[in-house]
Amino acid sequence: MKTFRIAVIAGDGIGPDVLAEGIKVLNTVAELDGSFAFEFTHFPWGCEYYLETGKMMPDDGMEQLKAFDAIYLGAVGYPGVPDHISLRELLLVIRKGFDEYVNVRPVKLLKGAPCPLAHVKREDIDMVVIRENSEGEYSGEGCWMNKGTPEEYVHQTGVFTRKGCERIMRYAFDLARREGKSVTSVSKANALNYSMVFWDQIFHEISQEYPEVETHEYLVDAAACHFVRDPHRFQVVVTSNLFGDILTDLGAAIAGGMGLAAGANLNPEKKYPSMFEPIHGSAPDIAGTGAANPMASIWSASQMLDFFGYEEYGKLLIDAIEAVLVDGKALSPELGGTAKTWEVGDAVNDKVKAVFQKK
Ligand code: NAD
Ligand code: IPM
Ligand code: MN
Repeated sequence: MKTFRIAVIAGDGIGPDVLAEGIKVLNTVAELDGSFAFEFTHFPWGCEYYLETGKMMPDDGMEQLKAFDAIYLGAVGYPGVPDHISLRELLLVIRKGFDEYVNVRPVKLLKGAPCPLAHVKREDIDMVVIRENSEGEYSGEGCWMNKGTPEEYVHQTGVFTRKGCERIMRYAFDLARREGKSVTSVSKANALNYSMVFWDQIFHEISQEYPEVETHEYLVDAAACHFVRDPHRFQVVVTSNLFGDILTDLGAAIAGGMGLAAGANLNPEKKYPSMFEPIHGSAPDIAGTGAANPMASIWSASQMLDFFGYEEYGKLLIDAIEAVLVDGKALSPELGGTAKTWEVGDAVNDKVKAVFQKK
């Protein structure tokens, strides 16, 4: 029997709560199928670990993770540890160190999910944001000069390599070609006279390799406006690390909320493990209350199933989430209900079993 070895980094705040539900559902799928299994290994890394040890993960943390088929992550970051330490020394180290250069973030409004946009139809919100995940504005390069003096200044350097831009754009174009969709590039060359001029130039070059794929280009400010006014324009969106970060929270806002927004950090070559996580953070404002919606975490588990080649089960999980939304009986407070995190997880899990048995 095939066993997938998964490293679990539940992390901080609501991370452990939402991951527990994803693990529950993954185990159910494996049991129902019978031909494969998951083996979860838990790593206690995160802000509490930092307060005890002075590190977000041990020195050989990346070495330990290398052996796994995938990483399943909850959330990192909590008051008490500066965010630039907690995130840059764990989450971002993994994304970059394992060359997870593709961040796949679906923005799809499921039936039964709330949408604050009165003028759009449900089908109008159905896109996937392909966010560059290894460089760009997140390179971490820069300097802090004359610190503490009136002459102090900082440089935060964006690094855009030809290789980095080409590979993320090709990933977006390949996806669009397979699915018969358009590609929209989001950039900002009117103000960012090196990085985004370069980005646009490479987008034009790569688009020549895919003459059959329809393309669009927007400046990021205009794109943000269109996400709200006319999300129907977007199918496959390719954009830089920071723009993708911001646009996908906006995407979450129009597609059911933070509790429904999932993401996959992929190393498509499978040289290193890929990492699956909800896009939300540790939500300190609701941590420990049971109010966290685990649907994003379960959705990211469905991306893991897709990545392992079980697309039919990936879809099954999303159908199960949708069925729970439509039922409206087990919804977390974010969605207007009173259900606790594990009750939502149980409801999705039951739907998975029901749909599976019907098949
Ligand atoms: P956040 O995503 O944690 O929370 C934003 C808002 O969304 C909050 O009101 C929160 O209650 C709500 N929310 C988030 N997830 C929810 C869920 N599953 N169900 C219901 N409501 C949910 O963003 P923040 O408050 O800006 O960040 C908190 C911490 O998390 C910070 O330390 C930040 O750096 C970190 N963070 C980590 C990740 C990650 O690990 N991938 C992502 C984003 C933020
Ligand atoms: C996300 C998060 C991270 C990011 C932070 C926590 C570093 O906001 O995954 O969207 O900016 O990528
Ligand atoms: Mn974000």
